[in-house]
Amino acid sequence: MSYAPTLIDNVFGGIRPAARALNKAASTIQSWHETGTIPQKHWNDIIIAAAEFGHILTAESFFPLSPQVPAQHGYSFDKPHCLSITDFHRVDIENLLELGGHYLDLSVQKSTREGPLRGKTLVNLFFENSTRTEKSFELAGKRLGADVISMNIGSSSVKKGETLLDTATTLNAMNPDLLVVRHGASGAPALLAQKLSCAVINAGDGMHAHPTQALLDALTLRQKLQETGQKIDKRDIGGLRIAICGDILHSRVARSNVQLLNILGADLRLIGPPTLIPIGAENWGVDIFHDMETGLEGCDVIMMLRLQLERMNGAFVPSKREYYHYHGLTREKLAYAKPGALVMHPGPMNRGVEISSDVADDPEISLITRQVEAGVAMRMAILHALSEAQNRAQIKAAS
Ligand code: NCD
Repeated sequence: MSYAPTLIDNVFGGIRPAARALNKAASTIQSWHETGTIPQKHWNDIIIAAAEFGHILTAESFFPLSPQVPAQHGYSFDKPHCLSITDFHRVDIENLLELGGHYLDLSVQKSTREGPLRGKTLVNLFFENSTRTEKSFELAGKRLGADVISMNIGSSSVKKGETLLDTATTLNAMNPDLLVVRHGASGAPALLAQKLSCAVINAGDGMHAHPTQALLDALTLRQKLQETGQKIDKRDIGGLRIAICGDILHSRVARSNVQLLNILGADLRLIGPPTLIPIGAENWGVDIFHDMETGLEGCDVIMMLRLQLERMNGAFVPSKREYYHYHGLTREKLAYAKPGALVMHPGPMNRGVEISSDVADDPEISLITRQVEAGVAMRMAILHALSEAQNRAQIKAAS
């Protein structure tokens, strides 16, 4: 998994000799050593420099042929499901992010050689519409070698409760190994996890949780921070002030991100009109603001959220126009945050409602396209980790 330290130590004889041979700052080599991976744009230079040290490297030297879920100091990922961030300890999250980073580095590859999910069946069960999440799980499953079936069930044709249990019975007969489920009712994936014998992954349930989105957001941020080459101690998410803005009340993305970013130690803020801040949010480990000017002060990262009109049964904002005026992220409001602050959005975006196009489309500050890219890598990591945990549990049960 962490190939970089081995390569730096065995080929070049350590960080300093590697820095000299590659004509790079020792801090850069040290960051590769610590993160375990080397950005692809440097591979060519390294292959050339290594030849002078008598080592013949190829592109494959930069990723292990059979990626492994990290297992250090007796730790191994043993969670049977991915239902909520609260099910994970920090070590699980760090390891999932590390594996996600590995798959992000490999994204040039169309599929992994070994196909760690070969022979497994992944069922995608979406009771609510999705573009990014469903397609990225489908792609992730295929890249890992699984057989993937996607069942798109229009929300209107399905009633909650009994129908969900009926669906569970049907699914059990199909014998999937992994089930990705999105449902309008909070707790639906947890209910399926109780009824089925496969690993269940929550791809968004009501307003409750969207753990894989929070993980991919963290992966996107980490990757960006690593590239900016700041000092290592300041590079981590724990050193950042992050604002989550907009319709927090109806957002499962906000809830999962608050949980994850709190575990990683970020300084968190929620910004939104009082009608869109949930009751009790003051106990979530965040500071709450109602106006963008004070809320964005000193922020390194701004996560914007969609106004989730489909979940609103009443008027929560006077009009979209007024909402944009007070809470939409424009260049003017961005100036309240730290210079160079990064902008994120889980999508789908409503341009001119929560965000202006010039902010969303500015590649210098917007991470929105990168979030989609990281989505596939992070979901590969989650599927891989759950599948290995499942294999270990099955071997244990059989012995
Ligand atoms: C989010 C969702 O479905 O919760 N989108 C996503 O997964 N990319 C956010 C949203 O719908 O606004």
